[in-house]
Amino acid sequence: MLDRNAKIFLAGHKGLVGSAIYRRLVKEGFTHIITRESRELDLTNQAETFAFFEREKPDYVILAAAKVGGIMANQTYPADFIYINLMIACNVIHASYKTGVKKLLNLGSSCIYPRMAPQPMREECLLTSELEPTNEAYALAKIAAIKLCRYYNQQYGTNFISVMPTNQYGIGDNFNMETAHLLPMIMRRFHLAKLLSENDFDAIKADLKRYKLGWNLDEQIDWNSNYSIEKALNSVGAYRDKVVLWGDGSVYRELMCSDDLADACFYLMDNKDYKDIGEHVNITKGDDILLKDLFEMVKRIVGFNGDISYDKTKPNGTPRKMMDASRIRALGWEPKISLEQGITDFYRWYCQ
Ligand SMILES: NC(=O)c1ccc[n+]([C@@H]2O[C@H](COP(=O)([O-])OP(=O)(O)OC[C@H]3O[C@@H](n4cnc5c(N)ncnc54)[C@H](OP(=O)(O)O)[C@@H]3O)[C@@H](O)[C@H]2O)c1
Repeated sequence: MLDRNAKIFLAGHKGLVGSAIYRRLVKEGFTHIITRESRELDLTNQAETFAFFEREKPDYVILAAAKVGGIMANQTYPADFIYINLMIACNVIHASYKTGVKKLLNLGSSCIYPRMAPQPMREECLLTSELEPTNEAYALAKIAAIKLCRYYNQQYGTNFISVMPTNQYGIGDNFNMETAHLLPMIMRRFHLAKLLSENDFDAIKADLKRYKLGWNLDEQIDWNSNYSIEKALNSVGAYRDKVVLWGDGSVYRELMCSDDLADACFYLMDNKDYKDIGEHVNITKGDDILLKDLFEMVKRIVGFNGDISYDKTKPNGTPRKMMDASRIRALGWEPKISLEQGITDFYRWYCQ
């Protein structure tokens, strides 16, 4: 069990995943959580990182700092994705070893698995065939981080754990329609369509001030013209009477609330060592949902009364991408937040 008074360094505490872990650590009564924003401590900088570890000497480390992004960002900036993520992993893992960190948790992602991995994806399928080319650079950096932990454990007797979570949503998520992940994007689309159907332009303006639409649309809006605002919302698929969604809704996706991920990370840190876990473990509920059903659920939770229309000229993406939950369940962890409950809480938080 972790000592609640020990020093714990949470790298990436402002991110979607890191902020959920931060809330959990506070709830568990940790009194000495060390955090730094990237402008205070750039973890790609070896000298800065080593000096920080020498000075602070944390007992435990959670590595949730990374450069993350969608397909477009990954394809446009592959050099940044591999360089930044490799440097962060090398610096934090080596500094942790050098300064005697007792336990480290390294966060990876499901993109480490081969693009044609059998479903559901088991931990053993790592490096069995080629990766998805669109995010290969990111995946290679994440695989290197897993191997760093493994080999430091093997050679130096460290206790570094690697976890591979499924797709996350939750408090602090990104709602920019150009770069957001699936759930925040569709939830905001239904929300804006609902406000349009209610003619509530005050609420629409407040929403647009809080989060950008992306695609340079914000810069083109004439804020004195409701027509201009409505046109911008139509461009991102939100209409008075319908919401337009990409593909045909026939593929399956898995989604997990970041508070559930924080629960799993905390459970593993508190109760398990790398010897129990092996090279890495999936953090997944082990179930997914047909997108058509997900869209209906979000529509109902948001309270939009219009239709759902599918733009079938747009791609569906991979038919199914789900991780196997056998290992995490065998380790004694169970998910706590159902999708319905998670989305309901997520929408309530968004509206506040
Ligand atoms: N989101 C998901 O759906 C998901 C799913 C599976 C796995 N994961 C994994 O979880 C981890 C965190 O992802 P996330 O979604 O929480 O990302 P995020 O919201 O983009 O947050 C990234 C965090 O990393 C920090 N960071 C980035 N570059 C840094 C640097 N050079 N030095 C110090 N800190 C730096 C950022 O700090 P600043 O804000 O101060 O710059 C921020 O706090 C990643 O390893 C990711 O692969 C995420």
